[in-house]
Amino acid sequence: MATTMILDCDPGHDDAIAILLALGSPEVDLIGITTIGGNHGLDKVTHNARAVCELAGRPETPIHAGCRRPLIRRPIDAAYIHGETGLDGVDLPEPSRPLAAQHAVDWLIETIMGREPGTITIVPTGPLTNIAMAARLEPRIVARVKEIVLMGGAYGVGNATPVAEFNILCDPEAAQIVFNESWPVTMIGLDVTHRALCTPEVQADLCEANPRLADAVGGLMDFFRSTYRDQEAFPDPPTHDPCAVARVIDPSLIPTRRCPIDVELRGTLTYGMTVTDMRALVDDSDPACTTRVGTGLDAERFWELVADALARLG
Ligand code: BDR
Ligand code: CA
Repeated sequence: MATTMILDCDPGHDDAIAILLALGSPEVDLIGITTIGGNHGLDKVTHNARAVCELAGRPETPIHAGCRRPLIRRPIDAAYIHGETGLDGVDLPEPSRPLAAQHAVDWLIETIMGREPGTITIVPTGPLTNIAMAARLEPRIVARVKEIVLMGGAYGVGNATPVAEFNILCDPEAAQIVFNESWPVTMIGLDVTHRALCTPEVQADLCEANPRLADAVGGLMDFFRSTYRDQEAFPDPPTHDPCAVARVIDPSLIPTRRCPIDVELRGTLTYGMTVTDMRALVDDSDPACTTRVGTGLDAERFWELVADALARLG
């Protein structure tokens, strides 16, 4: 049976691939997308999410715009990676459907409370403001969510700072709320996603998988590669966000370990760090610890999954 999924995102080149992966995978029933200011401001990323659904031929996908600002800190963005539009490098179709009127946080609560408990998986691939707000506004959702599988954080090297990953650093206070609630959280961090490199060979396979989408996917990846080369000294872009969707589709692609994870809020040098206790003090079956961390990636099978999903989008 397909996993009922909500994608909470800030497209963003890799968020766009995450949306396409979810829409093109029969293992996923994507019941809605919520957006959050992150890679760019809320209006741009919301427009981008709608344009990507239009591109995918799925304009009816419900999309709800969420929070404009982090809980406490000032907003930051990643225009230096994703360009002025948030999705530079590609001409996307104009959205044909109006944006849903309901705020993402209200929609999340209504949807989670309205469905059977334990049926909805949330995949956040941006800052965690919407998810934290929803948990505070309606605490009963926490016990009803099946799982949160998020792209964010790292137990090793960071990207926005030496130790902090961008999504977490955008709103560390929200991230701390999400990691400390009792719902199961799986962190797919940079330790995993830095292995999801879109090499020119991978890109050629993705473009070949669906000729109709080839210009868009190629344009996105060319731009993403150029900024990752210039700004981060990566030869090929790590395609972070679809890794979280892939973990839901096929857990065997990304091994995980159960271990405590918390977010540093006071360190001068470490603000936004996801402090991951890898000392093996927790037994893998210990239900008292509700957080897991991804530790590897079968990159070859991951990219096959993405290519197959693109091919299905017709
Ligand atoms: C994360 O930051 C964003 O720029 C990407 O979309 C991804 O979600 C990687 O650190
Ligand atoms: Ca993202």
